[in-house]
This record gives sequence, C-alpha cells and structure tokens, in this order.
Amino acid sequence: MSWLVSIVDRADPESRPAPAAVEARKTQLLSLWSRYVRPVTGCGDGDFEDFYEQAVRLEAALGSFGADNVWLQLSSNRETAVNAGTGERRRASDLDHLPLYGTQPSRRHEDVDMEQARLAASYYRYGAFLARAGRRVEVCGFLPDDPSARDLGDVLAGFAADGIRRAFLKTTRVKYAAFPVDLPEGFAREDAGQVVYGELDFGAMSLEGGTENIIAQEFVPMHYEYRVFVVGQTAVTAAGCIEEFTPLDNNGYRFDNKLRRNRQDKSAVEVEPAVAGILTGFARNAVDALAVEVPGLTDYVIDVALDAEGKPLIVELNSLLNSGLYASQPVRVTEAMAGRERELVL
Ligand SMILES: Nc1ncnc2c1ncn2[C@@H]1O[C@H](COP(=O)(O)OP(=O)(O)OP(=O)(O)O)[C@@H](O)[C@H]1O
Ligand SMILES: [Mg+2]
Repeated sequence: MSWLVSIVDRADPESRPAPAAVEARKTQLLSLWSRYVRPVTGCGDGDFEDFYEQAVRLEAALGSFGADNVWLQLSSNRETAVNAGTGERRRASDLDHLPLYGTQPSRRHEDVDMEQARLAASYYRYGAFLARAGRRVEVCGFLPDDPSARDLGDVLAGFAADGIRRAFLKTTRVKYAAFPVDLPEGFAREDAGQVVYGELDFGAMSLEGGTENIIAQEFVPMHYEYRVFVVGQTAVTAAGCIEEFTPLDNNGYRFDNKLRRNRQDKSAVEVEPAVAGILTGFARNAVDALAVEVPGLTDYVIDVALDAEGKPLIVELNSLLNSGLYASQPVRVTEAMAGRERELVL
C-alpha cells in the first residue's frame, strides 16, 4: 500500500540544549532528514519546533508505512514525488489517488481531497459538540445581506441582555480570525459592526454581507487545553496544548500528561496525570458521540479543556493532518492509518 507523504521542507534548525536522550533523538531525526530531504546540521537558524515537527512526521511515515511505500512530496517542489525507498520520481498529480499523510498545503481544504478536514471544520454544527461546548455557541453572519439570516448584532445583543459580559468570535473560515469582545450593559445590535471592524480593520470587509460566517460564543475560561488525535474514530495519542513542545518532549506515554493551566498566559507547565485522565475520558466520550452523529468523520483532532469549575468542554475540532503535534506520539497516528489500510486490502 503506497502513501503520498507531504512534508514542509523546513530550514536547518537552531540548536537548543537538551537532555542526552533527547539529543540522541535529535541526531536520529537530523540524519533521517539529511538522507531523505537535504543535509542539515541541527545548528542552523531555522525554527526549532517547525523543523522537528516535520522531521517526526517523516520518521513516523517511513516507520509505519515502509520507505518503499512512501512517495515523498516536499513543499519546495510540489510537482514531484520521490519514492523514499527506490528514488523513483513521479508527477505528484499522478499519485493524488493515494491516501495522504503529512501537512496538507490547502488553506481552504479545497484543492486536495480533504473530506476529513472539511467535516472537522464544521464542528460547530454538530450536536455532539454543542452538548459538550460548556458555553453558548451560535452561528451567524456579519451584517448579512439576507434579511432572514441570523445577524451577529442580534446574537451579541441577546448575549448581553442575558448578562453575558464577554464573547469570543471566530470566523467559520479556518484560521482567519478569533478574538474576544466585551459586551457592556446595553450593547445593541448596531454596535457589532464597530466591534468587528475595530478588531479586523479591512479584514472585516470580506466578512460583511455573509451568512453563517461567524461563530459567536460565550467567553469562558479554558484551562489545561489538551489535544487528542483521532484516527478511525479512536483516540490514539494526545498532549497538552503547549506551543513550545514537540514530540521530542513526549514523556513516554501515549497520552502525554504535561499540561499548561493557561494557554493564553503561558503559565507554568506541570505534570497533571489526573487532569489528563479526565480530559482523555471526556474526549473519548465525545469521539463516540461524534461517530454516531457524523459517521463520515473518522480522522481529526479534538481540543478539550476544563472550565472555571473544572468541568470538561470541547474547544474545537481541527483537521488531523495540519494540526500542531505538541508532545504527542505521531507514530500512533501513522500506525493506526497503516493498520486501517491493511484491513482494507485484506
Ligand atoms: N469561547 C471561548 N472563550 C474563551 N476562550 C476561548 C473560547 N474559544 C476559544 N478560546 C481560546 O482561544 C483559543 C483559540 O480558539 P480556537 O482554538 O477555537 O481557534 P483557532 O482558530 O484554532 O486558534 P488557534 O490556532 O490559536 O488554536 C483557544 O485555544 C482558547 O484558548
Ligand atoms: Mg485552536
């Protein structure tokens, strides 16, 4: 079974002192990269996390699929795929029927077959999410042209009238904008325009007139954010959302238990087995509910957290292939994918 493995061709990373075991892992990854991508020293000026994330993806793909089954497509030359085992070169477009692994380049998930990414990005429509969101969530449009469409101004004015003093707005367009807004008493529907233009400036123009392009949420504190990787509707690995961590920081557990209480404030990282256990159990329950509701959605990441009272909630769902790895074990993802393909072939 062959795979198209898409790797972002990162620059030689800066050096960062690490314990001996991690140094040994870095050496392995640097030599793998030097063999399959381009010679690197580990003492360059490239970004540390970005490089090692890509190197670990490459390592996981080669290990789980087998080099002969990996058609490597580098971001520096997207037209060509090279067989990692034989060195054979093919036009990447001739291989686009193959299952995909690795970072996918499409911003809007449209130019490659990314059904999974599309289904994950619609998370805010799923009852299984809404029942576990731990906050009010409403989809609406920013100054919609269609008079019958749900208007952001009405949603925010409704929140304010119900005593909600802070909201969190996110565009339905992936990674376009996400920001909190204050809702002073007496906030009126007409105030919404200023709020969005104040935050996004000209970026608000492309939203204006649309329907269902904003996810308006009640703002709730989110603690111990945790990313759970799901393959075949099964949680396979997970790690705390700690931006400076990579799989090099994994503590040997499939479900890493290092957590940061406050992602936004970059508070201290601590080992929290009990919290990681609660979050994993909660995520598994959500994954089961999503499997019933959206059977086509099989591979994704689900971010979960605890609210101010310690009750778990879902932050969001994202595409599996493009999500940051943190201190997870990516080889669990590739193993699960390879296992599924073997089942299909048998
Ligand atoms: N309703 C909310 N109330 C308070 N904070 C929130 C809310 N929703 C999200 N956040 C915070 O904002 C962050 C970003 O939100 P989210 O993950 O939904 O968007 P995103 O576009 O994926 O951004 P990022 O790439 O930073 O994760 C979350 O990780 C969480 O810390
Ligand atoms: Mg996020």
